[in-house]
Amino acid sequence: MQVDLREHWRFLTSYLRKPDVVGAIAPSSQALAAALCEPYRRFRGPAKVLEVGAGTGAVTRHLGSLLGEEDELDICEIHTDFADILEHDILNGAGFVRSVAAGRVRLLRSPVQQLRYENRYDFVISGLPLTAFELCDVQDVFGIVRRSLKPGGVFSYFEYVGLRKTSWLLSMGRRRHRIRSVSAYLSRNIRQYQFDRTTVFQNLPPAHARYLRFR
Ligand SMILES: C[S@@+](CC[C@H](N)C(=O)[O-])C[C@H]1O[C@@H](n2cnc3c(N)ncnc32)[C@H](O)[C@@H]1O
Repeated sequence: MQVDLREHWRFLTSYLRKPDVVGAIAPSSQALAAALCEPYRRFRGPAKVLEVGAGTGAVTRHLGSLLGEEDELDICEIHTDFADILEHDILNGAGFVRSVAAGRVRLLRSPVQQLRYENRYDFVISGLPLTAFELCDVQDVFGIVRRSLKPGGVFSYFEYVGLRKTSWLLSMGRRRHRIRSVSAYLSRNIRQYQFDRTTVFQNLPPAHARYLRFR
């Protein structure tokens, strides 16, 4: 597993400042990024893709290697420092320059909750720390993702193996209640809409990449 220490340091310090927004102490590994993008990689034909919660660009970089001549990518990131890194370090790089200039790649510096698209994307790929969110925010995110996907479109996201259970066991009071209700909501969606799942052990910590189709 290749590790970029500068990227890890930026990530860790951001987590320490805003744990509930960043939601992870390290960026995703290349193996997890590849797993999240796998349905898009297999897709034939021009695709519209939305990445939400792009962070320092672990998944974005992988998306850049898959982007076809007619594909479009919107990248949504709420954290200003991370959005700056994406703009200067990732979108200026070889994989992206032409598609950014052609307007086929856009950086949206806003919370995902503000997106108002309908039937636009073939794929939504999320790095959002859903288990750190309040239930109402998780519900909002699922509503927005669902509306913004075309029929048959795929929502990929990840969660760390055992995190929901462990956090619930180790927490108390309001936090315990929050985790239980978020977990129940995620489990319901997984039961109803997940059509595939893969477990990535080459990530710290290991993670499930989940694939959901709502309609
Ligand atoms: C766990 S990090 C994942 C980063 C990256 N995708 C990766 O896999 O390494 C979660 C990211 O979601 C972003 N985020 C959190 N809440 C958000 C929101 N409401 N809208 C957009 N991005 C958000 C955080 O700033 C952070 O960059």
